[in-house]
Amino acid sequence: MKVCFFTNLLYTSRSNEFIKIISLKFAKTKATFCNIFWGYFMTIQRTFSIIKPDATRRNLTGAINSKIEASGLRIIAQKRIHMSDREAREFYAIHAERPFYNDLVSFMTSGPVVVQVLEGQNAITAYREVMGSTNPSEAADGTIRKEFAEGIEANSVHGSDSIENAAIEIAYFFTNEEIVG
Ligand code: CMP
Repeated sequence: MKVCFFTNLLYTSRSNEFIKIISLKFAKTKATFCNIFWGYFMTIQRTFSIIKPDATRRNLTGAINSKIEASGLRIIAQKRIHMSDREAREFYAIHAERPFYNDLVSFMTSGPVVVQVLEGQNAITAYREVMGSTNPSEAADGTIRKEFAEGIEANSVHGSDSIENAAIEIAYFFTNEEIVG
């Protein structure tokens, strides 16, 4: 009887230990899974932004920056420049064959712009959501383009559309020393 009681106790304490080990392993697996999930869907990225001439002309830099910051993105580099014809042509070279290319270059060089580097969780998608659709008539309420854009060309802001383009566009306007993360 005594032996039996002892064995039961031993068994119970062993099974408790077993449960503890299993739950610990499960907790670790859960944490690893969460990290992978979090890392996959929520990565810190940098994106490139331009506040376009239609917006600087109407003194909207601060209002646009407020929307950017309210979304959780950080402005880690910023400068106000007047794009040259060559810079605008090179920057928008991907649209060179489009019928609106020359007008777009003229518009982008028609006044000062503010070029920026933004950083945050999934910054590329996050900023595109804050900007709204290219055509302001299709942009969602509360977005920059819905509130401020004048039209499909004078649409107040530009944001990179991919990680690769963000890196290229950032490097086109900023040196590493100018980016203060
Ligand atoms: P952006 O995000 O800077 O990228 C390319 C730009 O081209 C776009 O914003 C608009 O300003 C402009 N654009 C796109 N489609 C048209 C269009 N159909 N007509 C005129 N401009 C356009």
